[in-house]
Amino acid sequence: MTQDELKQAVARAALDYIKPKIDEESVIGIGTGSTANYFIDYLAEIKAQVNATVASSQASADRLKSHGIPVFDLNTVDEITVYVDGADEVDPSLALIKGGGAALTREKIVAAVAKEFVCIADGSKFVDQLGNFPLPVEVIPMARSYVARQLVKLGGDPVYREGVVTDNGNIILDVYNFMIPGPRITEQKINDIVGVVSNGIFARRPADILLLATAEGVKQIKAQ
Ligand code: A5P
Repeated sequence: MTQDELKQAVARAALDYIKPKIDEESVIGIGTGSTANYFIDYLAEIKAQVNATVASSQASADRLKSHGIPVFDLNTVDEITVYVDGADEVDPSLALIKGGGAALTREKIVAAVAKEFVCIADGSKFVDQLGNFPLPVEVIPMARSYVARQLVKLGGDPVYREGVVTDNGNIILDVYNFMIPGPRITEQKINDIVGVVSNGIFARRPADILLLATAEGVKQIKAQ
């Protein structure tokens, strides 16, 4: 199977996974990226049962609306029943790297509000240790050089993602050559740098379950 077919398979499995969990009171959190896009398209098949969603990016909100699926402002909902999103890397504790699509801050907010966070990924994303994928960090534009110097002190090689402005009006630094043996501590250390809005390590609020698409089928993996 191609990577794209695996993404479709896991998005389909996510729909089956959430169907029994949702009713007319439910709010579904929607992620960002190509895997999440497949999930949005499949969700449209049951849109009569979907009363409310909250999107983690403008792009996902636009895609949901194009299917006629209602999208709410997060400030108008108390709780998100279930949040479905992809990842760039997942480790066995279900800590993640996210933000390849620059939506990490809104994704982190939606994850924080969600009762259950379902990560959907193809097998290539599952790793023993986070860090081969360059770590995205969202930064207030005027702090770009300062934050980059602090990231070098932490041992990484930050690279400015040219031409990208986040939905929040900020910039992204991608940190290369930065293996992450202790994701919870590193997440906090980077957040403590003044000028950082958030970083793509999701360890303090990891996924609750991983649906992982492999050639043998979609596996359900709980944190080890
Ligand atoms: C978006 O900012 C990211 O966190 C995505 O969830 C991540 O990049 C996965 O994207 P794909 O599903 O396109 O691989």
